[in-house]
Amino acid sequence: MPAPARTPDSAAPPALSARAVTKRYGTLVANDAIDLDVRPGEILALLGENGAGKSTLVKILSGLVRPDSGEVLVGGRPLPDGDPQAARAAGIGVVHQHFMLVPDMTATENVALAEGANGRYDAASIRARLVEIGERHGMPVRPDVPVETLPVGERQRIEILKCLLRDARVLLFDEPSAVLSPAEWDRLAEVLAALAASGLAIVLITHKLGEIAAVADRCTVIRGGRVVDTVEVGSTPPEELARMMVGRDVVLRTERPLVAPGPVVLDVSGLALRAYRGDRDLGPVDLQVRGGEVLGIAGVEGNGQSELADLISGVRSPTSGSVTVTARTGRGPGRTGTIAEDRHADGLALPLSVTDNLMMRAIGERVFSRLGVLRPARIRRHCADLVARFDVRTTGLDTPVASLSGGNQQKIVLAREMHGEPDLLVAAQPTRGLDVGAIEFVHSQINAHKAAGGATVLVSAELDEIFALSDRIAVMSSGRVVAVLDAADATRDRIGELMAAGREGATS
Ligand SMILES: Nc1ncnc2c1ncn2[C@@H]1O[C@H](COP(=O)(O)OP(=O)(O)OP(=O)(O)O)[C@@H](O)[C@H]1O
Ligand SMILES: [Mg+2]
Repeated sequence: MPAPARTPDSAAPPALSARAVTKRYGTLVANDAIDLDVRPGEILALLGENGAGKSTLVKILSGLVRPDSGEVLVGGRPLPDGDPQAARAAGIGVVHQHFMLVPDMTATENVALAEGANGRYDAASIRARLVEIGERHGMPVRPDVPVETLPVGERQRIEILKCLLRDARVLLFDEPSAVLSPAEWDRLAEVLAALAASGLAIVLITHKLGEIAAVADRCTVIRGGRVVDTVEVGSTPPEELARMMVGRDVVLRTERPLVAPGPVVLDVSGLALRAYRGDRDLGPVDLQVRGGEVLGIAGVEGNGQSELADLISGVRSPTSGSVTVTARTGRGPGRTGTIAEDRHADGLALPLSVTDNLMMRAIGERVFSRLGVLRPARIRRHCADLVARFDVRTTGLDTPVASLSGGNQQKIVLAREMHGEPDLLVAAQPTRGLDVGAIEFVHSQINAHKAAGGATVLVSAELDEIFALSDRIAVMSSGRVVAVLDAADATRDRIGELMAAGREGATS
C-alpha cells in the first residue's frame, strides 16, 4: 500500500513546541535550551548520539520529567510543567521504547486500565473501539489474548492505539524500530505516513538514517543536549545528517579483515531445545567456528536465532546436544563473552553502579584482589579505562546504570564482555539502540577481536550488519539451520529465499 501523499503546511502553527527547554542532572546538562517545533501533518525526526538528550526531551514534552527552565507549548498554549495528565489531556501521546503494557492482561484490559477505568467499565465498548480504530488505521490487534503472547510489533500497535483512542494529536515515538524486524518497521512506516496524512504531528526518534530518509519531513539534530540544526530531509544526504550528529565524518561501512582461520574454537553438536516457542523445536544444530572467523546467523525474527545464541553462550540449557569452547590456541577450555539480546533482563543490574556492572565478571581476577581483599584503586583504574575506551557517556563510575541512556547501557555490556579477549564472542543484536558512531566502533571491535584470533557468533536482525562482518552466514528457519553460506557466495536474494524456503516445510 503506497503511503498517501503528504504536504505538511509549513505555515501552520506548530502542534507542539519546546522553547529553551533545559534539564540538568547534577553537573550534566541533558537538555540545553532546546527549541523544537512539530507541525500538524508532519513527521519530525529527532537524531542524536547516545546520551544526546532525546529521551529526556520526550519525557519533558510528555510531562514525565519537569524541566529546570523553558516551556512546552501545545497549539501555542503553555503546558504545566511535569504534569503527564495535562499533557495527555492536551493530546500528546507517547510510545516508549519499553512498553508500558501489563503482560498478562489482554489488549482490551490494558486500554481500559490506561483510560483510568476502575472495577466497572464497559469492556464491550472499549473492545469495539479498539478493533474499529485498529482497522481504520491499518493496525489490526487481537483484543482478547494476553499481550505477552503477542509479537512485539502487535504490542507496539496496542500502544499506538491507546494514544489514538484518547484522540492524541501529537505522537512521540522513542526508538520504535529498535524492537522491530525490518518487515514490521515497513508496516509501521506506512502507519506513520497515514497518521501524518490525517493531520497528526509525529516526532520520531531513531538512529537509523534510512528510516529518516524514508518517512520524515524534517530532522532536528541534537548533540550534547543542544540543537545543532533542523533541516529538510529531502535535501540533506544521510552522510550530512551523520556528520551533524557526531561532529565529524562517520564511516558508514567498515572494511572486513580477512584472517587465516585458526583452530576450532566453537564446536556445536546435535544441539536441540524442545518447544522453544509454542510447539516449535530448535535443532538439532551442528556448527563449528574457528578462531579468526565470524559466523553470522540470519533469519526472520522468531526462527530460533536468539535461542541458539542463548544455548551457545550457556544462558539456557539445551534439551540435548553439546557446546564445546576451546581456547584460541587450540588447547584447553576457552572463555566466552556474551552480549545478550535483552540487556535489561540478562546483561545489566540496573540499580547498581557503572563499576559494579563492569566488574561483574572480572571481580575474581587476580589483579583486582590481594589475599582475598579487593583493590579499589585498581578496580577504579580498570573501569575508568573501559569507560574511556568504549566512550561510555556517564557522570561517573558510581552512577547507577539505570540513569544512563539506552545506548550507553549497551556500551557497558560490550565493554565488560569484550574485556580480557574472550576466545568466543556471542553477540546478539550487538548494535541495537546504538548511534552510527557507536556502531562503527563496535564493528571495529568485533573486527579487532577476529584479527586477534577470536571466534565470533553474530546474531543480527540487520542483514547489512551480517554482511558487513561475517565470513560465513548460517540461515535459520523454523528452528533449523537451513544453510551455511560463504559470505562471498551470499546475496540478499539468496538469503531471503532460504529464510522463506524453510518455512514452507513448517506447520505454521
Ligand atoms: N534520571 C537521570 N539521572 C541522571 N542522569 C540522567 C537521568 N536521565 C538521563 N540522564 C542523563 O542524561 C543524558 C541524556 O540521556 P537521554 O536518555 O536523554 O539520552 P538519549 O539521547 O535518549 O540517548 P540514547 O540514544 O542512548 O537513548 C545522559 O547522559 C544520561 O546519562
Ligand atoms: Mg534514549
